[in-house]
Amino acid sequence: MERTYLMVKPDGVQRNLIGEIVTRFEKKGFQLVGAKLMSVSEETAKKHYAEHSERPFFGELVNFITSGPVFAMVWEGENVIKTARTMMGATNPADSAPGTIRGDYAAQLSMNIIHGSDSPESAEREIGIFFTAEELCEYEKAVNVWV
Ligand code: PPS
Repeated sequence: MERTYLMVKPDGVQRNLIGEIVTRFEKKGFQLVGAKLMSVSEETAKKHYAEHSERPFFGELVNFITSGPVFAMVWEGENVIKTARTMMGATNPADSAPGTIRGDYAAQLSMNIIHGSDSPESAEREIGIFFTAEELCEYEKAVNVWV
């Protein structure tokens, strides 16, 4: 079963959107296998966003993600990587459709509420940065028969 790394960014935590975001993924039919509220160190932020290190906004991105607690999550389900990205909406809130998380709650590119892995390789790498194997739960849910 596919897994993805999702993270409510500091703006989403400050705006009390953790519950709303978790609810959307639960109701969609995905299964939460790991979650924690945490502070991101500068070292972890730079590792997580390493592929963007040459981009002009890299410093701003690192400052932002280390500015307050994030809610780190691992979700599991069929095609969860792609579907979660669809549910999040376009990276730039100016382009994200109403009904998506960013389309409904974000107004600025630099504060766009949520991060989600963009590929199986990224998901594996990002889950490994934020979670140990012991922090992830393998379990069966009876409701999965119906979704
Ligand atoms: S994506 O989703 O990876 O294709 O988006 P991308 O445009 O490559 O952006 C990579 C991450 O950088 C964030 N971003 C910015 N932050 C601050 N300022 C500016 N101008 C900016 N442009 C992009 C964007 O939200 C992506 O972060 P994550 O956490 O992956 O959403």
